[in-house]
Order: sequence, then structure tokens, then C-alpha cells
Amino acid sequence: MYRIGKEEVAAVARVIEGKKLFRVGAPYQEVDNFEREWAQLIGAEHALCLNGGTTALIAGLAGLGIGPGDEVIIPGYTFMATAIAVLAVGAIPVIAEIDETMTLDPQDLERKLTPETKAVIPVHICGFPSNMEAIMELSQRHGFKVLEDACQADGGSYKGKRLGTWGHAGAFSFNDFKIITAGEGGALVTDNYNVYERALIYHDGGAAFRPYAGELKSPVFVGSQFRSNEIAGAILRVQLERLPGILEDLRAVKKKFVDRFRKYMIPSNDIAGDCGTTVGFSFATEEQARSFATSPGVGGWLPIDSGKHVYKNWDPILQRRGAHHEAMNPYNFPENQGLRMNYSEDMCARTLDILSRTVYISLNPDWTEEELEARLDSCQQALDSQF
Ligand SMILES: Cc1ncc(COP(=O)(O)O)c(C=O)c1O
Repeated sequence: MYRIGKEEVAAVARVIEGKKLFRVGAPYQEVDNFEREWAQLIGAEHALCLNGGTTALIAGLAGLGIGPGDEVIIPGYTFMATAIAVLAVGAIPVIAEIDETMTLDPQDLERKLTPETKAVIPVHICGFPSNMEAIMELSQRHGFKVLEDACQADGGSYKGKRLGTWGHAGAFSFNDFKIITAGEGGALVTDNYNVYERALIYHDGGAAFRPYAGELKSPVFVGSQFRSNEIAGAILRVQLERLPGILEDLRAVKKKFVDRFRKYMIPSNDIAGDCGTTVGFSFATEEQARSFATSPGVGGWLPIDSGKHVYKNWDPILQRRGAHHEAMNPYNFPENQGLRMNYSEDMCARTLDILSRTVYISLNPDWTEEELEARLDSCQQALDSQF
């Protein structure tokens, strides 16, 4: 649903004409500037641009010091990448329920906390804000770190504060399915310099000989290669300028659905901060949901059908294949023995129930007035004739 055009073409041309596509030492400093501009837009002290949202999550967990021996609680409704990121740093993902807002249920989170819970990843799925007040209150009481997965919520907010800035760090994605894009891409934000610096080191296997190495406060450790590049940076700087307009238009479209179909709407933790990419209808049964979704002109779909966004379909996780090599599989680490890793397909029954009774319609900020009205009318007809 992103917008892209000649401004991005001009930005890419500028980089190619400068003949330096690597971010370090580039004449236009596209990635450096994007990091500054993203930090400012989101309202965070530090931003690190990376090559994806998964890598932003991994670098974020590494920045927060999460590793073997740690449990990280994640919701059962998120893209599998959230769980993969936890395993990538050697920790164990523990799966918790969502509530009717489609985001992590703070009550189930509290029930699932143990002394081994060192981090929690609330996911602002489909741009729906998680209940950050409740989650941060638990974090303060129990001492776990919070890494927000805002990969589907670029620019969203909760109670007037941007998503990604409520927790100790926040991760964004700019892949092809996101609100803004560079084809692939991601960002990590945090107010904590130490977290930023550790993520910076982790994301750049060559950190030891980069110009900034001399300024680092902590010793360089071995990380990986998650760097962005000047082409992506140049595109993202234009995309960032488009973001407020996209969000405004998406929210205006969503408001029409919310105002008209209030009684069917899934609840929101903060509708004003919701990104507006998706409108959710709640039904009593899966049969009703399927009937509405497939009614003429509705164009709906059920989140239970969204493949690797539903924990029961995370085969490598459920079967504890946590790495390419048995000796590097966190499920085999001595530090992780005794942690909760007995997954089953029905372990979060409430999540599956909610996902089966909900219908989504993906919204488009560029629908014409006629297209929008036609969609609204189709929904109205389907609801009037069936319920
Ligand atoms: C909730 C969530 N987390 C993480 C990711 C991973 O982002 P990327 O594909 O940029 O690595 C995605 C991307 O689809 C996502 O939707």
C-alpha cells in the first residue's frame, strides 16, 4: 500500500551518479541522514538503519544483552520473524495469548512471567497499538526489557507517543509489504546509548575498522552483517517524507469503516494512534466470519489463514529446529535446559479462537471516493443480509 514515484527515482539517481553505494564514506550520507531523520520523526535519541526488520529485532535483542538462559515472551500472533530473532541470539521464545485487540494480552503476559523472563516483544500487528501502558508497568515491576516489534506499524503511536519509543528499544521494517519501503530494510530505535552501540557493533561485522570504531565505548565483539546501503537510504529518506500523508489518508479511510460499523469493530488500545492499514470486524463464530469475508465486494480475509503469522504454523519453532547446526541450536544449549520450550499447536487456544472469528479488510490510502463508498456499501449489504 506504499506510495513510490519519481522522487525516489531522483534520489537513487543522485546516489548512482555519486558512484558510492556503500554507506561508509559516501558523499551524500543517505543512510546517516535517514538515521537522524528517523530518530527525529519517531522521537528517539538513536536510530540505526539495517537491512531488515528481522535484523533490527536481532540487533535490538543483542543490544539489550539477551542471550542463552533467557526467556523472551512474544505473542502467538506475529510474523515468525519475531520468534526467529529470539533464537538468533540464543534465547528461547515463550508464546503468549493475544486479546481481542489482536495484540499481546497483558494478563496472559503477567501469568507467563518467570524469573527467567528477561525480555518481552509486544507486536503492533497490522499497525494496531499494543497496550504499552500495561506492558511497561509490568516491565517496571518485574524488571524485564521491552523490545517493541513495530515492523507493521511504521509511524504509529500509542497515547500520543510513537510506537517503538515506549519500550527500551523498537524495531521497524521497510520490506515490500510495509507502510513505507525500500524493498527491504529496517530500523532500530532506542534512547539508551549503550543499547544503540551494542546494536551498532552487532549489525556491522566490520565495526572494528570503521571510522567510528575509535569512538566506541564498549569493546567490539563479533556480530554479523546487517548493514544498509546508500540506495536504500536514499529511497527511505523520500519514503519518510511520504509517511505522514500516507498515515493521514489511511486513518481517514479507516474512520469511515469504524464510524459506520462500530458494533462489529475489534477493540483498539488507541484508535487515534492506529496506522489504519487494516480494519478488523469481530464475529461470534468462524462460520459468520467466513460468510462475511467472502460476500460480494467485501474482499475480506481471516487472520487465522495468514500462514506464518500464526504460531501453530511455525513448524521450525514448534519442532525446536532453532539453528542450521545442532550444536548452535538454542534448544540444545545447557543454559536453556529447564526453560519453557514444550510447544503445541493448541497452546494458545484463545488466540486461535480470536483469529478465526475476525475478518480483516486491507485498506488503501489511494482508493477513490467511489471505490471506498462501494466497499462500504458491500460491507453494509453483507452485514444487513446476514446478521
Ligand atoms: C511483525 C513483524 N515482525 C518482523 C518482521 C520482519 O521484517 P523483515 O521482513 O523486514 O525482516 C515482519 C515482516 O514482515 C513483521 O511483519
